[in-house]
Amino acid sequence: MDRQIQVFLNRLSWVSIAIASLTLLHLFLQTPETCVPPDAPSKPHLRFPKSSCDFSSRAHVPLDKKNKRLWSSKEWQKKVTSYIQFFKSIQDLSLLNKNSRVLCVSAGAGHEVMALTNSGVLDVTGIELIDSPPLVSRADPHNLPFFDDSFDFAFSAHLAEALFPSRFASEMERTVQAGGVCLIVVEECGDDEVKEIVSLFKNSRFISANNVTLIGLKMTSIIMRTRNSP
Ligand SMILES: *[C@@H]1O[C@H](CO)[C@@H](O)[C@H](O)[C@H]1NC(C)=O
Repeated sequence: MDRQIQVFLNRLSWVSIAIASLTLLHLFLQTPETCVPPDAPSKPHLRFPKSSCDFSSRAHVPLDKKNKRLWSSKEWQKKVTSYIQFFKSIQDLSLLNKNSRVLCVSAGAGHEVMALTNSGVLDVTGIELIDSPPLVSRADPHNLPFFDDSFDFAFSAHLAEALFPSRFASEMERTVQAGGVCLIVVEECGDDEVKEIVSLFKNSRFISANNVTLIGLKMTSIIMRTRNSP
């Protein structure tokens, strides 16, 4: 009885080994060299992948090449040109010059940083929650990694989107030295909203508000001058 079972188990294991080997051989012969079928469409970016295996590889583009491509796009150049014109009007008011230390808060991809640099301003710093080297470094607008009075001029076109606008404003004021300028651009608004924004800047004096067209949008620019700390 025992012997019969042993013989049976032996046979079973031989059969198992044979099946496993055949399966492996089958897989080996069947596996294609790539997961991408030979009849893949010519525009893979228009095709949604069906599985994790079904991907079209994304080529790694070096940063300088990526930036070159971005900066030479019409969209980018139009925005930068618009910002240059805008900052020119601020320079004409003698509120900004090439030696001003400028901070751009929530600078996005850095249009305004490039515009200021192209306008001849020598010391421009851009920050945003997500960095875009070399124009914009990563920092939280609510907690700027700069000493008090580090700048002469702070600019932001994104106060309206701030999570904590009063904190955003007080951080701008803190890093700008007394007598410096905080310049805010928001969607075009009336006097009440301007007052509301100015009231966030507790340590600044209102200079002027102007309706302007910037990057193709109707905006209101609000200029304030920082006071001596109490
Ligand atoms: C800007 O335009 C709005 C109307 O869209 C107006 O209420 C406001 O007074 C204008 N502001 C200035 C400073 O001209």
